[in-house]
Amino acid sequence: MSKAVAILMEEHQKILKVIQALLKQCDMVEKKGLVNLDFFAKAIDFIKNYADKFHHAKEEDILFVELNKDSAAMHCNPIQQMLYEHDLGRNCVKELEIGVKKNDPAKVLNGGRGYVNLLQQHIYKEDNILYPMADEALNNKAKNEILSKFEEVAKKYSETNKKYELFLNDL
Ligand SMILES: [Fe+2]
Ligand SMILES: [Fe+2]
Repeated sequence: MSKAVAILMEEHQKILKVIQALLKQCDMVEKKGLVNLDFFAKAIDFIKNYADKFHHAKEEDILFVELNKDSAAMHCNPIQQMLYEHDLGRNCVKELEIGVKKNDPAKVLNGGRGYVNLLQQHIYKEDNILYPMADEALNNKAKNEILSKFEEVAKKYSETNKKYELFLNDL
């Protein structure tokens, strides 16, 4: 496995940890009608900034760009589907966020559980299909370029990501 793919898979584990907590909190909403505002605010912040602006952006702007080059020679290209799923995820988060703001449990559950289901499947597909395909399709030069771009992004986000490490440790 390339280092770049290993980094993305590590990020998936963090996203999955938040998703597990989100699912538990959704169960609380269903059972007791209680929306834990503090948790949901932090989870939405993590999803929008860590999962989307940091992790998905690295996929969309760096990995997928390399995979779309002719040199990658992919047999079939699942990238359109992955991009579509990123967008579906953004819609779920919007609904979740509106639900929390309006204290509307039905919206919170629909957006929250929709996001959980989508991302669990999305991460499974990337870990088991897309990333292994990428490792096979990309040459070493491309893999090194991806890694150095990932390192630049990691530097840019190092301060912001500290906050998310604290959030993850608290879960
Ligand atoms: Fe993705
Ligand atoms: Fe991903």
